[in-house]
Amino acid sequence: MTAVAIDGPAGAGKSTIARAVAKELGFLYVDTGALYRAIGLYALRRGADPKKEEEVSPLLAGLSVRLCFVNGEQRVLVNGEDVSEQIRTPQVSMAASGVSALPGVRAFLFELQKSMAKDNNVVMDGRDIGTVVLPDAQVKIFLTATPEERAKRRHRELLEKGETVSYGAVLEDLKKRDYDDSHRAVAPLKPATDAAVVNTTTLSLEESVKLLLGIVRGKLK
Ligand code: DC
Repeated sequence: MTAVAIDGPAGAGKSTIARAVAKELGFLYVDTGALYRAIGLYALRRGADPKKEEEVSPLLAGLSVRLCFVNGEQRVLVNGEDVSEQIRTPQVSMAASGVSALPGVRAFLFELQKSMAKDNNVVMDGRDIGTVVLPDAQVKIFLTATPEERAKRRHRELLEKGETVSYGAVLEDLKKRDYDDSHRAVAPLKPATDAAVVNTTTLSLEESVKLLLGIVRGKLK
C-alpha cells in the first residue's frame, strides 16, 4: 500500500488540496482532524471540559468513532450517528484542539488511523501523520501559509457556511490553536525531518495541487 502524509497547521489548505490530490491519484482521502473533532463534539455534548484528561478519558469507554466513505467522501460516525456536519463549527474546532493534546485520546485514535492505511492507498492529512501515525509513508508533505492568509481562507469558508464570525476572531482562534497544537507534549505539530515543506501563501488551489502532485509523482517514481 502507498501512503501520502500531509501535515500542517489549520487553514493551510490541507483538506482541499489533499482531497484533490487523492482524487487525481485514485487514493482514499482520510481527514484525521475529523476524528479529533468527533471526540471534541462528544466531550462538549457530555458536558466535559475538552482539555481535562480526567473528564474526557472516562467517556472513551462508551465511545465508538468510525469512518465510512460515501461516493469517496469521508463521513465520521460517533456511536453510529453521522456528525460530519456538526463537527465543523468554531466551538468544535477549539474542543478538538483541546482533546487532541490528551495522550489517551491520541492513543484511542492511533489504531483506527493506522488501519485505514493498512488496507488502502491513502492521502492522509493531519498534524502528526508523517511523524507519528505513518512514519514510513512513501511521501510526506508539510503544508504551511502565513497565519493571516490561513485566517482569510478559514473566514471565507465559515461565511460560506452561514456562520457569523469576524476575521479578527478567526485569526485569534487560529493563532491560539497553532500555539497549542505545536506546544503540546504529545505528537506536537512539526514537519517530519524527511517532509517536503510547501508554503501555499501565494499559491492558488490549482497551483498548490499541481505542485503537490509533482512532488508525489516524483517520489513514487
Ligand atoms: O485539521 P482540523 O482543523 O480538522 O483538526 C482539528 C484539531 O485536531 C486540530 O486543532 C489539531 C487536531 N489534530 C491533531 O492533533 N492530529 C491530527 N492528526 C489531526 C488533527
